[in-house]
Amino acid sequence: MPSALVTGVSRGLGAHLCRALKAAGYRVLGAGLAASPRNDALDDYRVADLREPLADDLFAGEDVDVLVNNAGVYLDDPRRGYGDLFSLSADDLRDTFEVNLFGTARLVLRYAPRMLARGSGRIVCVSSGMGRLQDADGASFAYRSSKLAANSLILTVARHFTAGQGDLSAFSYCPGWIRTDMGTGSAPLEPGPAADDLVRLLGLPAARSNGRFFRGLAELGWDTRGPLVTGPDPAAP
Ligand SMILES: NC(=O)c1ccc[n+]([C@@H]2O[C@H](COP(=O)([O-])OP(=O)(O)OC[C@H]3O[C@@H](n4cnc5c(N)ncnc54)[C@H](OP(=O)(O)O)[C@@H]3O)[C@@H](O)[C@H]2O)c1
Repeated sequence: MPSALVTGVSRGLGAHLCRALKAAGYRVLGAGLAASPRNDALDDYRVADLREPLADDLFAGEDVDVLVNNAGVYLDDPRRGYGDLFSLSADDLRDTFEVNLFGTARLVLRYAPRMLARGSGRIVCVSSGMGRLQDADGASFAYRSSKLAANSLILTVARHFTAGQGDLSAFSYCPGWIRTDMGTGSAPLEPGPAADDLVRLLGLPAARSNGRFFRGLAELGWDTRGPLVTGPDPAAP
């Protein structure tokens, strides 16, 4: 039975991901902040604060076939009255990067070499369209830049995976605006179908997902060309 390690599993998208993975036949391992998450899809669970270094024994004996970096924070969310760059605190900037980038990176650095050695595995970053430069709108610098950096990490791993030539894939996934604590009750989408879509992407042949950025089942793409900040034409006389 393949195993999947998911971060952030007590609520939101992560809770739905565990259920969808379990239904697809995975052994589901979870890690997150909650002391004892109420999630009956979990086969095993460890408390792990992703702002901290990983414990040496975090699922040490497990061959993790799928790593889903789902845990995330959005501390400079303007809907909560605090998105402006010039009021961003250093603590919030640091915590955002600790969870959204460094926590992801610590797990990737632990599990990607094992996948490379085995010649199989999947690594996903649950990212956001807000992590594309073209979507930057002047607010939420901490969240946007942490997701942009996490996307860059995934692209880097994807290049290693391609070189390895096995059944290996690393990709980013945006669930869209979904109804969770982070997405708020105003979101138009439910997290359940977003979780099902991600599990379907995990089942694609590696060559069809490695190095890509999806939203739902469609390819979103990493970025665009051309100027991202409009202003006077620099070539104008
Ligand atoms: N909601 C949206 O509209 C939306 C849109 C685009 C992308 N996303 C991305 O989707 C992912 C899931 O978001 P969500 O909407 O489900 O958010 P959520 O409901 O706020 O849940 C956040 C999850 O992150 C975990 N987490 C937070 N801080 C952590 C820490 N220090 N250490 C370990 N785990 C931590 C929590 O763990 P516990 O369960 O243990 O509390 C929780 O499960 C995030 O990466 C988010 O950026 C969401």
